[in-house]
Amino acid sequence: MDESDSGRRWWQGAVLYQLYVRSWRDTDADGYGDLDGVIAGLDYLSWLGVDGIWLSPTMPSPDQDWGYDVSDYLGVHPELGTMADLDRLIAEAGARGLRVLLDLVPNHTSSAHPWFIDAASGRDARHRDYYVWADPAPGGGPPNNWLDATGHSAWAWHQPTGQYYLHLFLDSQPDLNWHQPAVHEEFREILRFWFDRGVAGFRIDVAHGLYKDAELRDDPPATGSGPMAGRFGQRPAFSQNRPETHGVYRDWRKIAEGYLPPRLLLGETWVGDLGRLAGYYGHDDELQLAFNFPFVFAPFAARQLSDVVGTTLARLPAGACPVWTASNHDVGRFASRWCGGDERKVRLALLVLATLPGTTVLYYGDEIGMTDVMVPPELRRDAMSRDRASWDGSRDRARTPMQWNASRNGGFTAAGVMPWLPLGDTAACNVADQRRDPDSVLGLCRSLLALRRAELGGGITPYEIVPAAEGHWAYRVGGLLVAANLTDQPAVVPCPAGEVLLSTAAGEVGAELAAERVLGPWQGIIARYPPP
Ligand code: GLC
Repeated sequence: MDESDSGRRWWQGAVLYQLYVRSWRDTDADGYGDLDGVIAGLDYLSWLGVDGIWLSPTMPSPDQDWGYDVSDYLGVHPELGTMADLDRLIAEAGARGLRVLLDLVPNHTSSAHPWFIDAASGRDARHRDYYVWADPAPGGGPPNNWLDATGHSAWAWHQPTGQYYLHLFLDSQPDLNWHQPAVHEEFREILRFWFDRGVAGFRIDVAHGLYKDAELRDDPPATGSGPMAGRFGQRPAFSQNRPETHGVYRDWRKIAEGYLPPRLLLGETWVGDLGRLAGYYGHDDELQLAFNFPFVFAPFAARQLSDVVGTTLARLPAGACPVWTASNHDVGRFASRWCGGDERKVRLALLVLATLPGTTVLYYGDEIGMTDVMVPPELRRDAMSRDRASWDGSRDRARTPMQWNASRNGGFTAAGVMPWLPLGDTAACNVADQRRDPDSVLGLCRSLLALRRAELGGGITPYEIVPAAEGHWAYRVGGLLVAANLTDQPAVVPCPAGEVLLSTAAGEVGAELAAERVLGPWQGIIARYPPP
């Protein structure tokens, strides 16, 4: 069926896989993963059963923030490969039915981008207004109280031209000025350039950023605490989440829908309020998918998770597709944050992620239960989080190389090569060993994705909560009943159900499920609903 006519989109009911290119597979023995390494792993991804991949930044960059500081939006980072490699990757992925999303960084550029180099050359420079420049405050010092991602002033003094420039992240990441129409035109061209090359869409970095308050008013103090409350005690009311940003996505959506199949805009929408998150979908005319950080940061507990899911579904406009993810390169891995490395919990978390309605995004290594790796300070590579307790440890902890096999370098790079970040415990957790064992976490994940594709793929399945005791979470999704025991005690499945299609405990598939069926601690099942 013609996707544009049916209203169905390939990502609805799909599973995306976030692939951190530098840590996936190194084919040229320089210690960094590369595009050829991604190609080498496509058969594995197709075996696993994902529908698409999101590649961490692939564009040229001085790597102060590992690609999130772009110096050329129309190129490929030479350390990762060439444009021909990326074209081949898209073609090889397509041959396996896998779509490829790139990471687009529109909030800021690298200070090494030619636009910024020109902008910094003088107040009359052609690209001066591409960035946010301001005079000192009346009494001297930065123009306002905004803070960057390290907790320092978001303003850097530029002596040669006598003004400050804004950087909400590192000072080598100057923020673009979206009040300037030429910036819009540049990004329209960037979108078309990549869409024309067959890229299936973009994950949009700092999607809630872009526009800044035109009057540069001070951000107010934060009212809550925790990662969703703001930054370093401030609520970013004027530095982020400005209403004009929605116009950018309405514009981009038209461009994305002009292609066949329509291209996907998946926003990194770092907002704590689910109503505000819903706003990024617009009236089905802005982002098609918006990451849900309240879900990411919810504790692994039945009531809190089911509350976030229920509220999200209630707030999202009709037809909008929710997105569920639990790990990424910033927030760490769920196998550590939610599960403390407990395999029962890892299995249960995967079962939940695979059965929620909408789109699920797995992070590389989630499928084998990879945990965070405590990287010693002298080996850390992320400048933004290196010294900051506020990141809950260095972000490097979730960026360590993929553990393909039990060898010292985990099959990530050749023996004897120093990987860019140290590996975790490859003997305890690796793809090769788990692939041989159908009862492994990887075996379970693959079965879950196959079940999802068969039962929940191709659309946004209706979801309905089933009343359950404290600590237990049960829901009906499509023709399935999911029952999850998020406690240390055995639990009774809260309603009658049919055949068990899958259980997180090995050897339990296919049994008829009696009304009084008992789940072990941290066990989950997927059964048919309604019962016969
Ligand atoms: C996003 C990215 C993060 C990066 C930041 C600045 O949050 O996920 O890794 O440091 O934007 O681009």
